Amino acid sequence: MASEFKLRDTLLERLSGARHVFVLTGAGMSAESGIPTFRDAMAGLWAKYRPEELATPEAFQADPARVWRWYEERREAVRAAEPHAGHFALVELETLLPAVSIITQNVDGLHQRAGSGTVCELHGNILRSKCHISHRQIGREWIADDNHNPPRSPYVKGGLARPDVVWFGEVLPQDAFDAAMAAAVDADFCLSVGTTSLVQPAASLPLLALEHGAALVEINPQETPLSLHADQCFRGKAAEVLTSIIDQLKA
Ligand code: OAD
Repeated sequence: MASEFKLRDTLLERLSGARHVFVLTGAGMSAESGIPTFRDAMAGLWAKYRPEELATPEAFQADPARVWRWYEERREAVRAAEPHAGHFALVELETLLPAVSIITQNVDGLHQRAGSGTVCELHGNILRSKCHISHRQIGREWIADDNHNPPRSPYVKGGLARPDVVWFGEVLPQDAFDAAMAAAVDADFCLSVGTTSLVQPAASLPLLALEHGAALVEINPQETPLSLHADQCFRGKAAEVLTSIIDQLKA
């Protein structure tokens, strides 16, 4: 076991006795599965854009094919990816404690593929598509390759398929955010994993858990605005730190 990732005794006690663990994950959680983090995803062809220039309704209106192509590349990375040891550590956590809620900003479905039971997708799922006008989901059978152009929507004249993800300037799915807030309020232990803690409203959830009495542990190789609120910060990668925490819990 990597001792550099040792939980403080008081925190290990709190985790062992936790009734409900709230886990917020961000793009860093998927990095070791080979999916570029959101702000690292602008390499190569895309280097000249900022994420805010592609992940918006305005960008899609202006150039649907460009935005669709960027998401095609991200979808390919997601299809090729496999969950890593950190995802499986969170699945194991469910077998050790009464309740674990995973609240993710990731759109890749890796927590579900690993086998986590309660997963709340705050920012949608990149493998799904929806009509850009009616927002109704469009089945995969409809999404044929159209020379990298977004297919037409089956629902609304002039509508196009777009990824079923939340873009800058859009509101989060209400059900998902309500469920996430309820879990944060109820939790007695919170893990924030692989997120910059910059994008609202997701970034406010660990603070909500903290306000309602949860202990807070951050896992991120870099400092974030959440770090100063955390009871302990691990400056390591998600897979190694999460597996180490599970080992300590089982010991
Ligand atoms: P970012 O891509 O902004 O940041 C990734 C974070 O993961 C950084 O803080 C890294 O230091 C950290 N990190 C990198 N590798 C890691 C590893 N192996 N283990 C642990 N941490 C690691 O991603 P998010 O903060 O998740 O939203 O971005 C939040 C949201 O911003 C995204 O969901 C997306 C974007 O706007 C929407 O598209 C609505």
